[in-house]
Amino acid sequence: MQVHRNELSQKTFEFIVEYVKQKPDAFICFPGGNTPLGTYSLLVDYAKRGEIDFSSCSFIGLDEWVGMDRHDDGSCQETMYNTLFTPLNIKESNIYFFDAKSVDLEDECRRIDEVISSKGGIDLMLLGIGVNGHLGFNEPGVPFDLSAHVIELDDTTKVVGQKYFKEETTLSKGITLGIKQVLQSDTVILMANGENKATAVKAMVEGEVTNQMPASALQKHENCYVMLDEEAAAQLKK
Ligand code: PGA
Repeated sequence: MQVHRNELSQKTFEFIVEYVKQKPDAFICFPGGNTPLGTYSLLVDYAKRGEIDFSSCSFIGLDEWVGMDRHDDGSCQETMYNTLFTPLNIKESNIYFFDAKSVDLEDECRRIDEVISSKGGIDLMLLGIGVNGHLGFNEPGVPFDLSAHVIELDDTTKVVGQKYFKEETTLSKGITLGIKQVLQSDTVILMANGENKATAVKAMVEGEVTNQMPASALQKHENCYVMLDEEAAAQLKK
């Protein structure tokens, strides 16, 4: 996997560092996916140099493929542990993740809702966007008023998601925080890079707010920052 530590990664890194310096005990939601990997790598280097301390922060994972955990190659948790939590030496007690292997996934959703409520909500949420406009696994058509839930994955996600796995993998369901929790997060940063995201980015920023384009819900968030590289921003008018 290639990690590009480009300007987008750098700006997002700076934003997160500034945020955590202001709020050292921040409750932060980070996503898996390839887009934030450059930012994670910059955060790890910075922390290793002793420039920032994440030991008072706590973290929650955005989503997971149903049936996978941190020991499955390509799972969201595996990515997060390998690229961020393990190198940063984050205590296990400060990390919250869906158990997507649970026999009672509904119960798991309520457990995660409860974690978020007990922390008084998420302070900072970092998001990527799917080529189909999904946020986490909030796929096109998802009601905006859902909290954590299990969802049948969109066909696009099943195909595009193969990029995370070494072998062809059957992907059918996801477990994810809901759009309601995205909108209730204090500060949201959405990152997108590459021309394959340009159409979704345009619809998110300039299109109508509709659950057919889940990322368009972010237009309703008053403290949401969209961080783009030139390719992802290419179709924007404004
Ligand atoms: P990506 O995934 O960062 O690997 O492009 C983003 C997403 O599908 O939400």
